[in-house]
Amino acid sequence: MCGIFAYLNYNVNKERRYILQVLFNGLRRLEYRGYDSAGIAIDSSPARDPNTSQCSSISITPPPLIFRQEGNIESLVKSVYQEVAEVELNLEESFPTHAGIAHTRWATHGEPSPRNSHPQSSCAGDEFLVVHNGVITNYEVLKETLIRHGFTFESETDTEVIPKLAKFVFDKANEAEGDQVVTFSQVVLEVMRHLDGAYALIFKSRHYPNELIACKRGSPLLIGVKELRENMVAGSAFEDNYSLSNNGHPQEFFISSDANAVVEHTNRYLEIRDGEVVHLKDGGVSILKFENDKGKNGSSHYRPASVQRALSVLEMEVEQINKGHYEHYMQKEIHEQPESLTTTMRGRLSRGGSSKLKTVLLGGLKDHLKTIRRSRRIVFIGCGTSYNAALASRPILEELTGIPVTMEIASDLLDRQGPIYREDTAVFVSQSGETADTLLALQYALDNGALCVGITNTVGSAIARNTHCGVHINAGAEIGVASTKAYTSQIVVMAMLALAIGGDTISNQARREAIIDGLLDLPNKVREVLKQDQEMKDLAKLLMSEQSLLVFGRGFNYATALEGALKVKEVALTHSEGILAGEMKHGPLALVDENLPIIVLATRDACFSKQQSVIQQLHARKGRLIVMCSKGDAALVSTGESCRVIEVPLVEDCLQPVINIIPLQLLAYHLTVLKGLNVDQPRNLAKSVTTQ
Ligand code: F6R
Repeated sequence: MCGIFAYLNYNVNKERRYILQVLFNGLRRLEYRGYDSAGIAIDSSPARDPNTSQCSSISITPPPLIFRQEGNIESLVKSVYQEVAEVELNLEESFPTHAGIAHTRWATHGEPSPRNSHPQSSCAGDEFLVVHNGVITNYEVLKETLIRHGFTFESETDTEVIPKLAKFVFDKANEAEGDQVVTFSQVVLEVMRHLDGAYALIFKSRHYPNELIACKRGSPLLIGVKELRENMVAGSAFEDNYSLSNNGHPQEFFISSDANAVVEHTNRYLEIRDGEVVHLKDGGVSILKFENDKGKNGSSHYRPASVQRALSVLEMEVEQINKGHYEHYMQKEIHEQPESLTTTMRGRLSRGGSSKLKTVLLGGLKDHLKTIRRSRRIVFIGCGTSYNAALASRPILEELTGIPVTMEIASDLLDRQGPIYREDTAVFVSQSGETADTLLALQYALDNGALCVGITNTVGSAIARNTHCGVHINAGAEIGVASTKAYTSQIVVMAMLALAIGGDTISNQARREAIIDGLLDLPNKVREVLKQDQEMKDLAKLLMSEQSLLVFGRGFNYATALEGALKVKEVALTHSEGILAGEMKHGPLALVDENLPIIVLATRDACFSKQQSVIQQLHARKGRLIVMCSKGDAALVSTGESCRVIEVPLVEDCLQPVINIIPLQLLAYHLTVLKGLNVDQPRNLAKSVTTQ
């Protein structure tokens, strides 16, 4: 939910101004993860020569400079430069080696305020500082223990126990062994042993100048590595395990919650896995992890073992994370759907070669298709937009596979401890791959023995790693908090999933071919519907002062109604409800009058005539209608002068949700901009919800 970032320049002179810029830019890239407060810590003066640095409880560097501010990143930037000017801090001062840390917060424990912002500190002398993404579930117990040992707490955060625990561990170890015994990674390993919950952490300490520690359990974290060696053999670091010592070669390290903040500096990164403690020191990286070292009698002993790992390459371009010529990320992401859908399908569909057979290939599933086909049922599990995408795909999955498909909102499944069986295939749908509710539901399904399939947009995410198999939607980085292009790519992946599980039976051959043709032509159809941008802006002008909006859909487009309403409420902050049209008579009809705007989704499919009768019934109650219909049907669905019609291209019924959601995404976007609200960072929300 929060974003954490750190920059370490080793043996390469960087001015304080530059270091600040790197930290601020890192935070800007992560801002979509949380934007209610932010903070950074940098050194007040260059530390000792890194080549001679040693850990010592006696020699300790001067206290770092810590800046924490309520509000977004730009408020932090402004306050830092103001403070820097007030204290006449020299921005040109050069640091041969320097370790800075940064944080952008989405509040979970404690209101947004400087005191609750990160870095959180060990004590008055700021000996240990920590930035944290996640939640420490046993923080209350730890806090009580630390208070008993004389610590006083200043914030309401769960995070504050971590630096204080580090200080406690450090003092205890040095008390027992004398000076210079305990290394930074030993301290953090011991701290980690006491923490429960999900977290990604970066530690900075005055006792270990020019060093940083990164560790994680559950929450995402990676390290970008930029070697500045001249004549470096390209790719050498990939062949070997990444060097533990680097013989003084200049290097830059960028620790980040996600790749967005790394890719502008380097495309080479070191993956950090759960339970690992990664130590950056003297230009080298060492990875430690607890290993279960079973004793002779079978008892467990955990001892830190070192891990070797090669660097990986980021499959991401800087352009992907820039707004380009668009004003907002949401706008860019809506408009790039023809391209994102093309990428989602690339290499997975073919119109057929000489055999003329149209095929679907989902490499991540091929070894599991037989098991999936034998499952007693398929259970879709997700939250928010990802849940809606699964709901949109349910009918085609049922139709092509004949397997019963049930739907679960992740938190509800957990609340009920709903039945999941060994014979089930549980499909986890998540853009980020990190949503806490979905992850916990995944653990629950794994514990119950189901085959778990992941559908995510984030390679290496927890859901991608912890499921048995899966498909990446490859929609590219989605930065706007409201999900748009990931939604349409998820539907396309699940249509391909239905085709792959359904197989090539003679009875469904024509249908399969029509869907594959429809998929391949979908980007063109999306291009066509995007031309309605201005029309949707005009509609937004008409609706911008409305308090409420209903969206009626059914069949393939029930999900479109839910998703359209979700987009409007989350960004435009207008109350909006998606309603199953078949339920209209059972309650919602009471709301209908001449004032409340109602969007009815009535594109051509098997439910079309039913939707026509819904329109008539709403018309009879003087409903204020906006009808979405297939091109050419305007006259059929219009109920008079006051009825507005949105005509969209007709595609195969199971793909129609991809088309129908786009005018609603555009409507939500324009409503928000017209109302002067922040479209990329809606109030109280953050991109990936890593807390329950
Ligand atoms: C709405 C939105 C959220 C997410 C939900 C699940 O626009 O983005 O409803 O869909 O928080 O997130 P993921 O898909 O990352 O699991």
